[in-house]
Amino acid sequence: MNTYKLIGPFKQVLPMTGLPLNGALKDEQLNVLEGEMGILLQGETIAKTGDFDRLLNEAKIIGAEVVKIEGDFVALPGFIDSHTHICSSGSRARDYAFRNSGKTYLEMAELGGGIWYTVTQTRNASQKELEAGIAERASRHLSEGVTTIETKSGYGLTVDEELKMLRAIQAVNKKHAVDLVATCLAAHMHPKDFEGSKTEYLEVISSQLFSILKEEKLANRIDIFVESGAFSPQEAKPYLEKAKAMGFSITIHADQFSTGGSQLAVEVGAVSADHLEASTDKEVEILAKSNTIATALPGATLGLGCAYTPARKLLNAGACLAIASDWNPGSAPMGDLLMQAAVLGAVEKLSNAEVLAGITVRAAAALELTDRGTLAEGALADLAIFPCNNYQEILYQQGKLKPAMVYKRGQKV
Ligand code: NIG
Ligand code: FE
Repeated sequence: MNTYKLIGPFKQVLPMTGLPLNGALKDEQLNVLEGEMGILLQGETIAKTGDFDRLLNEAKIIGAEVVKIEGDFVALPGFIDSHTHICSSGSRARDYAFRNSGKTYLEMAELGGGIWYTVTQTRNASQKELEAGIAERASRHLSEGVTTIETKSGYGLTVDEELKMLRAIQAVNKKHAVDLVATCLAAHMHPKDFEGSKTEYLEVISSQLFSILKEEKLANRIDIFVESGAFSPQEAKPYLEKAKAMGFSITIHADQFSTGGSQLAVEVGAVSADHLEASTDKEVEILAKSNTIATALPGATLGLGCAYTPARKLLNAGACLAIASDWNPGSAPMGDLLMQAAVLGAVEKLSNAEVLAGITVRAAAALELTDRGTLAEGALADLAIFPCNNYQEILYQQGKLKPAMVYKRGQKV
């Protein structure tokens, strides 16, 4: 499978290389390859990008397959969605309707909706049923150019039910073209049927589940929802420290409705703090001074009709900003990463470079993946190819312009 393949010509190729990981970006910093450009693949990876005719000559010498495309196309690295909950069962359309009639997200939970409703539905689903749901959503994402998807557990909330979710994620990861990165979110909420305190619940999870995650290679990442209705920073800290000591990477659902989570994320050295809709200038500063990546989830803003993450302020202060969909049945049912990123860009006044970096190279950093998110030599040959002659069309059309072709690990999907 180490065969060469030349694809092109493209009107533009955006390799997304050479960009700083932190802070504001201008479009002029994008290294846009223009003219008749080609991408030479070697098996699953990128061998070279450059002038199409020159690569065509090389292709003839090395016997590469040539995939000639007719028309106007722009190629980017496949998108990376660094925060989703696509392993779940059931709809929360009722919650959505109630919320839009004036009830809050937290009131909905008290009325039998909210995360707990999805927990009951997910517990009732078999592992195979969960796999089918993940595969369906992953296929939709892949067709929209998303080639790597972080996927959380968190609707099981017992050792066995969390294992069922994570095994479903890994089963789909093995058979689906898309790459799934699993995260254990057993600390999504204090389960209503757990007899014991929040701290006792976290103790059960960390002592009984973490070692199995390692043994079965089910997840290397631990997440927790730090919020008044879920876990306080004080409850979360020992749990996360234990996870870190066992070698897990940490990510936190932080500052969604109230602050505290992002500061904890920085204190425990979390790779990312996600949500941040409630972050104030203080949290922006704390995040910007740290190595913790700030992840905006505009899908949750659109789903809940609440504030946007202060993305502009975070970037201006020097933070690394990733943008993810948060695709889940409760707060972010849409699951359209590109549309949401484009809208965040329009509202928060982000450059094309900032938005596109947020769903490629900076999202890869949020998952600690160094082999994707750019079209650098040796990176995975994951491509989102759009039918246009200028990359600016992509965000301008706010998600309506879909990729004409998607390549995953060198294969057209
Ligand atoms: O990221 N905030 C907590 N968790 C999810 C929502 C999960 C749900 O409502 O089912 C989120 O928004
Ligand atoms: Fe989430």
